Amino acid sequence: MQTNVGLLGYGTVGAGVAKIITMEEALLSQKVGWPLKLARAAVRDPSAARAFPPPPGLLTADPYEVVGNPDIQVVVEVMGGLEPARTLVLAALESGQHVVTANKALLAVHGLEIFETAARKGLEIFFEAAVAGAIPVIRTLKEGLAANRIQSVAGILNGTTNYILTSMTRGGATFGEALKDAQELGYAEADPTMDVEGTDAAHKLVLLTVLAYGVFPTLDDIRAEGITKLAPADFRFAEALGYVIKLLATAAENPGDGKLEVRLQPAMIPRGHLLAGVNGAMNAIMIRGHASGDIFLSGAGAGMMPTASAVVGDVVEIARLASSRTRTTKPSLGWHSLKAETVKPAGEIRSRHYLRFSVRDRPGVLAAIAGALARHGVSIAQVIQKEADPGTGHVHLVMLTHSAPEAGLRAALDDAASLESLLGPAMVIRVEEFAGG
Ligand SMILES: NC(=O)c1ccc[n+]([C@@H]2O[C@H](COP(=O)([O-])OP(=O)(O)OC[C@H]3O[C@@H](n4cnc5c(N)ncnc54)[C@H](OP(=O)(O)O)[C@@H]3O)[C@@H](O)[C@H]2O)c1
Repeated sequence: MQTNVGLLGYGTVGAGVAKIITMEEALLSQKVGWPLKLARAAVRDPSAARAFPPPPGLLTADPYEVVGNPDIQVVVEVMGGLEPARTLVLAALESGQHVVTANKALLAVHGLEIFETAARKGLEIFFEAAVAGAIPVIRTLKEGLAANRIQSVAGILNGTTNYILTSMTRGGATFGEALKDAQELGYAEADPTMDVEGTDAAHKLVLLTVLAYGVFPTLDDIRAEGITKLAPADFRFAEALGYVIKLLATAAENPGDGKLEVRLQPAMIPRGHLLAGVNGAMNAIMIRGHASGDIFLSGAGAGMMPTASAVVGDVVEIARLASSRTRTTKPSLGWHSLKAETVKPAGEIRSRHYLRFSVRDRPGVLAAIAGALARHGVSIAQVIQKEADPGTGHVHLVMLTHSAPEAGLRAALDDAASLESLLGPAMVIRVEEFAGG
């Protein structure tokens, strides 16, 4: 017996998968009970140089030599993008092949259709590599914590932005300087939009939400903000206030109204919290289960070998399952059926906030801003006002608010925006206190 694996894509991740399956043949054979073999790999250009050179004849330009090939039991989709990945994954499932994918964008956008197809066909679609690379968070939520009502999931899910934020925290760099440095060191793509605007982490948050709560949000349901507006001053104030700024993905059930709150935003995290100490390109996730308590996972969220580690782990699990006579057709999301519930609108979610206003140093500015906040039910917990810059007469006015719904805060800021002394829109960063933790 042997399990044959076909790859769609032989780029960074695909080459890593090929390397592990080839170099660790004996180890994997012991884990599965028989060999895993690479059968075929589809790419755009079979003649291009590869990070791990494939054996002669492995590469093909025709993905249908992988998809629908009766000799291939597991299709590994590591080509990325929405199309042709969606069409090929659906075709593989329809033809009876199990699928492993690292493609979070594909699952966040077309996941319902793909998971339903897999369930209807009694096949698996595993996607451990799609969220936080090597960290086994999918399996942890789906299996290890299956007995729990999940109270919250909070994660640092994008290595590029965490690398940039770490540089801004430690070195006082501007966003532009930190991004350039990250690009030169290979931590950021030439086009970093998906990372720095938060789209990549939002895709992963969709998947964590459905695993934790059985609710599949659309990207439009999620308040997703990137890190491009953060300034060195915010990092200085965060430090002075005892916080660290991280791009934080959270999904939580509000204990008051039972509603689901899902968002991806820069957040101030108390300096002593485990997530505040996750630096550089590392990823981490903290999950709070009603029975388990807090579980903290951390590790490499991307890169050739860490990502391939997760992909091949999925292949091994599928090979094992496919052999089991008692195999069930459990849906790949770990839920028997999904709920129709939707997530709470972002404006209704309550948080504490950090506000930074750039103002002209005139009497009455603080009172005017405080008045606008008070009219919308936002009360202030702390104010910091530094002396004015002698050259410009401008000053940073920083406030920490008590907990208030985001819609009230935004309305207050709209009110305050007309104040003549204000030099631009306020910087708003949510403050995450991790209640009860
Ligand atoms: N890189 C990471 O660290 C990482 C981490 C977690 C998840 N992921 C996910 O893993 C997936 C792959 O990422 P990657 O970094 O390995 O990408 P990549 O290096 O750009 O590789 C993509 C591969 O897919 C092939 N391909 C693309 N479009 C194709 C098409 N239309 N037909 C046939 N082959 C096609 C490419 O062929 P050619 O080589 O001939 O161009 C290449 O071999 C993505 O979904 C990504 O989000 C990546």
